[in-house]
Amino acid sequence: MPENRENYFPGLEGVNIDTTRLSFVDGKQGRLYYCGYTIEDLAAHCTFEEVAYLLFYGELPTSKQLYDFKSLLLAERYLDPHLKSIITLTPKTGHPMAVLQALTAQLAMHDREIADKSLEAKKRKAIRIIAKLPLVVTYFENVRTGMRTMEPRDDLGHAANYLYMLRGKEPTPEEEKVFDTALILHMDHGCNNSTFTCRVVSSTEADIYSAVVAAIGSLSGPLHGGANERVIRMLESIEELDEVEPYINDKVEKKEKIMGFGHRVYKVMDPRAKILRELAEDFVVDDPAMNKCLKKANLFYKVAEERFQKQGRMDIWPNVDFFSGVLYKALGLPRDFFTPVFAISRVVGWVAHHFEQVEDNRIYRPRFIYEGAALGRDFVPMNKR
Ligand code: CMC
Repeated sequence: MPENRENYFPGLEGVNIDTTRLSFVDGKQGRLYYCGYTIEDLAAHCTFEEVAYLLFYGELPTSKQLYDFKSLLLAERYLDPHLKSIITLTPKTGHPMAVLQALTAQLAMHDREIADKSLEAKKRKAIRIIAKLPLVVTYFENVRTGMRTMEPRDDLGHAANYLYMLRGKEPTPEEEKVFDTALILHMDHGCNNSTFTCRVVSSTEADIYSAVVAAIGSLSGPLHGGANERVIRMLESIEELDEVEPYINDKVEKKEKIMGFGHRVYKVMDPRAKILRELAEDFVVDDPAMNKCLKKANLFYKVAEERFQKQGRMDIWPNVDFFSGVLYKALGLPRDFFTPVFAISRVVGWVAHHFEQVEDNRIYRPRFIYEGAALGRDFVPMNKR
């Protein structure tokens, strides 16, 4: 007999699905930790590669360990010519997240170790995925804009090489640091939707590429990573500062959600949003257009907060996607590249979770409460329907 709704957890709110050693989100205090370290410490002192190592091995690397880890990533920093021709044939109107999904599946088909299920081979595949995803989207951008296609450089770090390939010029040290920090902030975040998706697919013993393809699809949604692109479109649609308040009032009256606000776990300001806001404050000072964009974002934040609090909603605050867009825009990234930036960082978390999942696996197989038609109803033949 079908059950009643007693055991029903919409959105799986509050449900612990497994244990993890990777990250902890403290929603009450607004804190985020990777392997015990605060995100503030990691953002201030580390590089993408160091934090990726931390999520891979559970400890920060020594300089020798970091050198070896970077060498592994560098050895995979290239795209097979056949993959490049596939990217060339990809519709230029395709969203870069769709390109990323399609090409990650292609990467799997090009991986000679795809059938090797050993942990060592899986680790090599994980490194390959982390190293190649940025190349896929940057190469796509080169092709789509008709600029010369860029070759990766071995002398640049992961973050700097991405900016170099995307924009065709080497970033300044400040740009590199800002971008590196943004990548660190997005790397892992508890049981978020795309990580959960990755775990669900991994639990079927599907290969790591399949888990990442599914996770990219999840991340693309506007309620998840797709929010950052929507935030910048929203801010750009508001031309002047005095239009901010009417815009918010209109949204509230129509009971529409405001992109970049709210979170399932944080009931205070997302610590990543705080850091990104501070970074943006320092980074955009010399650019009048960006300064105006940041002013709009800050005013938006203030007015929206006042509105939420007036309604007694003390739990809706800016999340990571609210200020990241301002920073990416200032770095000259196309709007539809904001979510791919999230992806090339979060992929580290996904693969780390893949390993946690397969270490002590049980397939995810929850249930639905059946609320459909009466069970066993009379079958009506086609000519009598
Ligand atoms: N604007 C207006 N009201 C909101 C918002 C928002 N952005 N977020 C939540 N609320 C309200 C919502 O209307 C609901 O009100 P009520 O209790 O009266 O029905 C209440 O707060 C709870 O919202 P919910 O949608 O049930 O909360 P959730 O935990 O299921 O969803 C969320 C969390 C992040 C999907 C949601 O806050 C949202 O849709 N935010 C906008 C999209 C966004 O910024 N997403 C990025 C999330 S953070 C980074 C990431 O994961 O990628």
